[in-house]
Amino acid sequence: MTTVGKNLASRHAQDNDLASSTLLAVGSLSVRFPQGKQHLRAVSSVSFSMEPTESVAVVGESGSGKTTVLRAIAGLLSGQALISGSITLHGEELIGREEAQLRQLRGNQIGFIFQDPVNCFNPSMTIGAQLRRILKIHRPEVAKSNWDAEILSILGRVGIDGRGKLKNYPFEFSQGQLQRIMIAGVCLGSRPAILLADEPTTSLDVTTEAHVLELLRELRAESGMALLLVTHNLAVAAQICDRALVMYGGRVVEEASIIDLFDHPSHPYTRQLLKSLPHFPHRQGRLSPIPGELVAAIASEQGCSFRPRCAEVLGEICALQVPGLVPTGQLGQKAACHLFPAASAKGVDGGKDHGDEVSGGEESGAEGGRAEESEGACQAERKGIGEATSRRIGEATASR
Ligand SMILES: Nc1ncnc2c1ncn2[C@@H]1O[C@H](COP(=O)(O)OP(=O)(O)OP(=O)(O)O)[C@@H](O)[C@H]1O
Ligand code: SF4
Ligand SMILES: [Mg+2]
Repeated sequence: MTTVGKNLASRHAQDNDLASSTLLAVGSLSVRFPQGKQHLRAVSSVSFSMEPTESVAVVGESGSGKTTVLRAIAGLLSGQALISGSITLHGEELIGREEAQLRQLRGNQIGFIFQDPVNCFNPSMTIGAQLRRILKIHRPEVAKSNWDAEILSILGRVGIDGRGKLKNYPFEFSQGQLQRIMIAGVCLGSRPAILLADEPTTSLDVTTEAHVLELLRELRAESGMALLLVTHNLAVAAQICDRALVMYGGRVVEEASIIDLFDHPSHPYTRQLLKSLPHFPHRQGRLSPIPGELVAAIASEQGCSFRPRCAEVLGEICALQVPGLVPTGQLGQKAACHLFPAASAKGVDGGKDHGDEVSGGEESGAEGGRAEESEGACQAERKGIGEATSRRIGEATASR
């Protein structure tokens, strides 16, 4: 393991020592949206948990359900969404709560940085008025005479000189500026137990992105809050997160520590995702985009949703059975792929959260043999990827 990798692992271990109880537990979460007479499956049987102070990245391509998971946790899904499963914060169920209770939770326990900052501000109120309102509601200890000084100071931390701009309206700021003002708003309010950040750096230039990531790190260090971060950018995930959930087609297809995700990616989708990154040495200069595209799932689910794009399809089992999220054999790592039937057959995790339509890893002779063969090839490939990605993590996290 690289030095940076060791540092990351030791930091993770320290965090785990501090964190004794589960903060957030998502169990078999499914979200459907009505589409004509049918339903679009945005999220299916998603389960994971987070300890206090943990930072977890949610990665995956557009339409894979990342925002829907975050919105479900914050109680921000539209009224037409059909939600099932369980979401608990500090052991208390959030699904089914009244809107007023959820609003209070969002103000105190759950912070949310939206993917689209423009629609998060009231267009008819100045930015100053909106930020002062946050202080008034959540920081009664700050004297009114100090409100503007506090606001200017926090805006400065996200790289915005707010002098003379507090009387401006949201439309007078760029998208990137609004995104930073939204982050400043979260910093101004009472520090939440968990911050849900939906691509908080997408519209920022590299320098501002670095400032914002630093600010998020500082916030976590100061208040010990947990972070659930949606990002398309694996380098951002490597810089700020301990663990990652990889989503595809509304499901979590891989869960691993950030180090293992780069060093031993297990799911074929994760491996292809890493290969499509720029500056990936074994690719010899050419990008390897994943062929095909993610298709929104409307009909009932059958088989693995990655199958049309998978280079390692095993045969009938992939077409007929939805793979469950099972341990891969690598400590703390899970993947939803029939390449990993052995681990689930041993019952390491028992496929607890698979739901009715998901297979728990039956091992049939032919398929088991093919899986071993394929696994051998994969391991050779993973070795190459692991060495290369260790270097990439080293580069990406050099500024930690
Ligand atoms: N309110 C809604 N009504 C209908 N369909 C929706 C709604 N919100 C999301 N969806 C659908 O659910 C699926 C998952 O969407 P989601 O926004 O969660 O994806 P995402 O992973 O966040 O994508 P991106 O990276 O582009 O932000 C998509 O097919 C999307 O079209
Ligand atoms: S279950 Fe089959 S189709 Fe799906 S990712 Fe694994 S090998 Fe590929
Ligand atoms: Mg999104």
